[in-house]
Amino acid sequence: MIAGSELLILTRLKILADYLYKLSLSMNSRYNNLLMIYYSGTGNSKRVSEWIAETASEAGMKTHVTSYDQFNPESIAGFTGKTMIAFFSATHGFNLPHSMLRFMVRFTSLKGSDIIIGNTRAGMKLSRLFLPGLSGIALYLPALIMILKGYRIRSLYPVDLPSNWISLHPGLKKKVIDSMFDHYRSLTKKYAGNVLSGQRVFLKAFIMLPFDLLVAPLALGYYFFGRYILAKTFLTNGHCDNCGLCISQCTTHSIILVGNRPFWKLTCESCMKCMNYCPKRAIETTHSFFFIILFALIWLVNPFLSEKMMFLANRFFKGAGASYEVIHTIVQWSLAILIFTISYRLMHTLSKYTFFSRLISYTSFTYWKFWRRYKAPAREQRQ
Ligand SMILES: Cc1cc2nc3c(=O)[nH]c(=O)nc-3n(C[C@H](O)[C@H](O)[C@H](O)COP(=O)(O)O)c2cc1C
Repeated sequence: MIAGSELLILTRLKILADYLYKLSLSMNSRYNNLLMIYYSGTGNSKRVSEWIAETASEAGMKTHVTSYDQFNPESIAGFTGKTMIAFFSATHGFNLPHSMLRFMVRFTSLKGSDIIIGNTRAGMKLSRLFLPGLSGIALYLPALIMILKGYRIRSLYPVDLPSNWISLHPGLKKKVIDSMFDHYRSLTKKYAGNVLSGQRVFLKAFIMLPFDLLVAPLALGYYFFGRYILAKTFLTNGHCDNCGLCISQCTTHSIILVGNRPFWKLTCESCMKCMNYCPKRAIETTHSFFFIILFALIWLVNPFLSEKMMFLANRFFKGAGASYEVIHTIVQWSLAILIFTISYRLMHTLSKYTFFSRLISYTSFTYWKFWRRYKAPAREQRQ
């Protein structure tokens, strides 16, 4: 049992330790400002950005944290002195999402500043072991873009938070999620202290380089084709009351109303925000539909159609000197996207009818209670 006077001493010691910690941060900090720009579907990358900004504030730096789609250069007009710019994003298909890459290509503010590029990726926890996700080219491609634009890279840094890819697997259990957040919060704050005091930090990114190189070709496949197909796997079930939350919250404005039901356009990046934040659990990944179309494509439609299309494409592309394999891949995948898009429109129309709506819902894993949703936990109390 701790007596009242001992408690008072402990509290004062904690205040003193906090003060000394902040003093050492501010003495070591090489920057006056931090501009933190993130892409986040379910909140992981946003939370990491907040942790880094918190460390920067403790060091006395001016900070501005914003989502990439809300960034306004006027909001950093008051920045004077040296600025660190940090980009943090979710990883999609071993790369950054298309809209974040496009944002970085167009980014021109504070030319010549130092840059941090970070990603959050699908980590796991097995017993006491924290396992990493895979970045692929998610750090190297944006780094190259920013170097070519004249910025200096001070760090590449992945953070392995719970996977939000609920179309593939149910969300992790709360206990595991909380322990991953505790673990990576303290590591990220330590990292922020180091990088803001001028250290270059690349080790954690480079350790996984051989694996990242191995999956790099998949990043191209996902970027040019896979993401379009995934955009065609979402549908609402009978619980949808047309509240419009998914439409207003979608950062890429990819959800529209068609026939009074939400409809996902090809610009959807499958960030999973809509599905995980829907208060009615009304958004499903249509697993049965996806597999039926996939098998129909592989076994029936695609070989037959692509033969005919190849004949035409060969005549068209031959002059451009493209090889048979390249033309074949383009033809096959373009057909796949076209067929998925047409079938999706058909399914969307059919789902107006109760029978089809139920058929689709009951054959989607995401409909059932055991398939947990995921979003980053709310900010810690002790911040
Ligand atoms: C469509 C999609 C693709 C993903 N691809 C990868 C990947 O290639 N590698 C990886 O480690 N994690 C991948 N993930 C997991 C997310 O990057 C990870 O959960 C991230 O922390 C989510 O961040 P956010 O909550 O800020 O959106 C993917 C998730 C989705 C939805």
